[in-house]
Amino acid sequence: MINRPQGMLDFFPEETEKLQYIENTVRDIANRFGFGEIRTPVLESTELFSRGVGNTTDVVQKEMYTFVDRDGPSFSLKPEGTAGVVRAILESGKYGDAMPLKYYYITNCYRHERPQKGRYREFSQFGVEMFGSDSPAADVTVISMADMIIKTLGIKKVDLRINSIGCPKCRPKYHQLLKDYFSDKTDRLCETCKSRLETNPLRILDCKSESCKAVSKDAPKMIDCLCEECKEHMDSLRDSLKKLGIDYTVDTSIVRGLDYYKKTVFEFVCSDERMGAQSTICGGGRYDGLVEELGGSHLPACGFGMGITRLLPTVSIPDDKKKSVTIYLASLGQKASEEALLIVNNLRLKGVSAECDTMGRSLKAQMKYANKLSAGSVVILGDDEISNGKAVLRNMTDGSQSEIVIDKIADYFTE
Ligand code: HAM
Repeated sequence: MINRPQGMLDFFPEETEKLQYIENTVRDIANRFGFGEIRTPVLESTELFSRGVGNTTDVVQKEMYTFVDRDGPSFSLKPEGTAGVVRAILESGKYGDAMPLKYYYITNCYRHERPQKGRYREFSQFGVEMFGSDSPAADVTVISMADMIIKTLGIKKVDLRINSIGCPKCRPKYHQLLKDYFSDKTDRLCETCKSRLETNPLRILDCKSESCKAVSKDAPKMIDCLCEECKEHMDSLRDSLKKLGIDYTVDTSIVRGLDYYKKTVFEFVCSDERMGAQSTICGGGRYDGLVEELGGSHLPACGFGMGITRLLPTVSIPDDKKKSVTIYLASLGQKASEEALLIVNNLRLKGVSAECDTMGRSLKAQMKYANKLSAGSVVILGDDEISNGKAVLRNMTDGSQSEIVIDKIADYFTE
């Protein structure tokens, strides 16, 4: 037997129904916020991620699915969605359109991480990216969208945590503080972090190794080193969140795992027991320098990514959104089953979900199956019913029965 790749999942209709419910909800809310859908390739030049996401990040250093194409160039399956969207904007000239540009996507991402509950090597992510505004109003827009989605999906025990990781003006000073702090503790850092000390000490704070986590605990905090502009940005964001009634805490330990962030970073963390250890359901922030880094001119931006696959255990589909069969036509005998097929086809043409037997099963077995499908109504067709042109319609919710003219079944359900 051939197994599915490690850390990747199969989804059968019971699960895809929930995925579709989440996708429909996020699309609906993205539309309300004026975001349009963007679709970009599942793979991009490896250089896009090493320059965009950052050479010293775990994602680029350890987790990408990279391969050399038949023609020579190196490609990587996208580990995240932001870099591809920026590349698409730069390449398409949308860059010159009226601002802000507001895009969303639902895409599979690929990271070669150690699989565990909630952490997969292939996972679905909903993301939004908003370009053109350097105002905290843009940060608030994307945060309030994530908040609305989480509340609409009925996910409980969620905390919003925000932080500021500064900008190119104030961060060098902080990097120096980090270097000083870690310089006499290098023996406790993992090999990757030893090299990060020189290249990008902020990344040490995000390392998953237990010893690095322990050393990082008492490291200086970026929030204490912010320049005036970053401080004002953070204060204004906090003020707006308060006005919108969105609860949050400032968590100075959030640095995010990708290099492009400046100023605001945030995460929505869910403590529902069904989540397992992977509790961050959404993460994002501001990335004002990424467009320039990838060859464009200055274009401020912010956004977030929400792990749809990770959300699954905490979401239940409300009864009125569950898929159901409106009517099941049970039949007795060859003539009736042929008639049932015709009626069912007619119902489906008119937009009604309808089922009939395709297995040659007994009436008892058909009734059992209709129950399994949670059919709203059942009609039993036999020879008598066909010659009379009438049958009994049974409402499966309240058990009531009424007579129905067979030729009018479709009208009954579409009126
Ligand atoms: P990220 O924090 O790397 O950010 O991922 C966003 C979300 O994707 C996480 O909060 C989590 O819910 C989900 N996720 C990440 N890795 C996995 C995994 N291995 N298995 C299951 N779910 C996972 C980004 O990707 C940024 N591009 C977000 C962003 C957009 N920032 C600005 N714009």
